Amino acid sequence: EAVQKGAYAHYMLKEIDEQPGVMRKLVQEYFNEDGTVKIDQALLDDLSQADRLYIVAAGTSYHAGLVGKELFEKLANIPTEVHVASEFAYNPPLLSEKPFFIFLTQSGETADSRQVLTQVNKWGYPSLTITNVPNSTLSREATHTLLLHAGPEIAVASTKAYTAQIALEAILVKAYGEAKNIERAKEFDVAKELTKVANGMQELVDEKGKIEQIAKDLLATTRNAFYIGRGVDYALAQEAALKLKEVSYIQTEGFASGELKHGTIALIEDGTPVVAIITDPKMAAHTRSNAQEVIARGANVLFIASRDLAVAGDQIILPDIDPLLSPLVSVVPTQLLAYYASMQRGYDVDKPRNLAKSVTVE
Ligand code: G6P
Repeated sequence: EAVQKGAYAHYMLKEIDEQPGVMRKLVQEYFNEDGTVKIDQALLDDLSQADRLYIVAAGTSYHAGLVGKELFEKLANIPTEVHVASEFAYNPPLLSEKPFFIFLTQSGETADSRQVLTQVNKWGYPSLTITNVPNSTLSREATHTLLLHAGPEIAVASTKAYTAQIALEAILVKAYGEAKNIERAKEFDVAKELTKVANGMQELVDEKGKIEQIAKDLLATTRNAFYIGRGVDYALAQEAALKLKEVSYIQTEGFASGELKHGTIALIEDGTPVVAIITDPKMAAHTRSNAQEVIARGANVLFIASRDLAVAGDQIILPDIDPLLSPLVSVVPTQLLAYYASMQRGYDVDKPRNLAKSVTVE
């Protein structure tokens, strides 16, 4: 294959390890020496006209969109909806007066997303494709394109494209916020945060041995598992769950931690693995109390917490970065947990059963 694995046994692990470099590359590609963002004015003009953003995507890219919504709304005050492409295609929501569409797609070839873009073009609305593949179909058919610069992603389970998408969303929010003169976005030093993220990711990928052991202790024989969190940690929980189920075939759900008690807690038994993600100070105590509720019912809880929110007994400590960008670091241990769970079960981690890297049929 054109892209070599080098010393790595699998592409997935190689691509997880490449993430700090991808963050640095994005800073290089999208920031000028004077700290201003390098994004095409025509794109910013179209974006600035919009009264609402519609992010459309599938799979892991959809999960990157969930984080993007938080970034656009919290940093730049623009209402943002996130839609699963296959749902939007046949059941579009009521649109605002001036919608702007953002297609998130690693491959640029996903049929479900393409179908929506075709419709958007018929309606005559402006659009942006954020993709890893220059000249891909969705890139050619959208009004604007931004490239992820993540390098080829070979493993079927997406890792570095997810973090590149979130980082690029943050960069776009910054450029948009500056164009619109929005204080919070102007103050948010995205280049500096992404450099902190790159260093933080490096610390985490350097802890592989520890995470391999945690995967063994927590996930060796289980048939199901849960990730829980609130806010962006809930968005992350959904991606973490998808990653684990894709490569280890453990049935995993990502849940809003406060919602568990309204039904899903019935599934908690003695030893059920639950991973609690805690990165936002506003919600840390709430998620901890939800974790206590499942511990009381026998769950085996792994805490992944930011350094400043960590308490004794938390096993995975995340480097401190702005809570809005925390999925960029909290996703790393969850990717590694998925990788090692798959290894320990003896599966083909780069090519999980029933899955394709890019799904070009509806
Ligand atoms: C497939 C892949 C997923 C991916 C999804 C969307 O289902 O297996 O990993 O997230 O397609 O792909 P895209 O290229 O549009 O991001």
